[in-house]
Amino acid sequence: MIKLKTKQEIDKIRESSLIVAETLEMLGKLAEPGMSTGELDRWAHDFIITRGGIPAFKGYRGYPANSCISVNEEVVHGIPGPRRLSEGDIVSIDVGVLKNGYFGDGAATFPVGEVSDAAQTLMEATQLALMKGIEKVVAGGFLGDVSHAVQECAESFGFSVVRDLVGHGIGTQMHEEPQIPNFGAAGTGPMLVEGMVLAIEPMVNAGGWEVDTLSDNWTVVTRDKSLSAHFEHTVALLGGRAQVLTQAGSGILRR
Ligand code: MF3
Ligand code: CO
Repeated sequence: MIKLKTKQEIDKIRESSLIVAETLEMLGKLAEPGMSTGELDRWAHDFIITRGGIPAFKGYRGYPANSCISVNEEVVHGIPGPRRLSEGDIVSIDVGVLKNGYFGDGAATFPVGEVSDAAQTLMEATQLALMKGIEKVVAGGFLGDVSHAVQECAESFGFSVVRDLVGHGIGTQMHEEPQIPNFGAAGTGPMLVEGMVLAIEPMVNAGGWEVDTLSDNWTVVTRDKSLSAHFEHTVALLGGRAQVLTQAGSGILRR
């Protein structure tokens, strides 16, 4: 069952999501050569706490850190630690916040110093795929429209979408129904209605879509060791259109 949210509930998710957005903005600026992923995680923790939130990932199914930080061929769920970022890396950072009983969830991939054109294109294509998906969040549309738009955009660049991991509904739980694949057919799946809140999160690989999980039981990597990027927004269907909650400003999508 997909739990629909009231305007008041969406405002609470917006508050948590705004902390997510600000945390990601800060971490993106800190992600310079020489910075360790563990230090970034501590910055995330301290910022979220200062803003009155709780880092939502810590302890989730035993996850040991406040954020997920995944470098280069790491897709998602990288565990922050002593690894230092190097010039030319791309780093995917995923943050979740709980505040007033409601969750916000977001992610972005950042360049570390100067990166290759191929890496830059991968990041831009993934972010564009996310926006193409969000544009399909309209009352009366279908969830498959979102999935299809994400896939079509990513594949138009010659990239592939990860099949094994999906986006999700979000609210009083970090993961609610529906699951949101990043591939699929338009016009299929549940109809999109007012009050849905969705965390849409394309993971796009420069090479093949296949992934493996490392022996730490968390870090997901591309099987062919190609680069991977990840962008995620928490989005509400309000007033017939999508509002991006994990972003500063009004978050109202213009089109
Ligand atoms: N942001 C991830 C998601 O959307 C959650 C990370 S898994 C965790 O599913 F264990 F780190 F929380
Ligand atoms: Co998520």
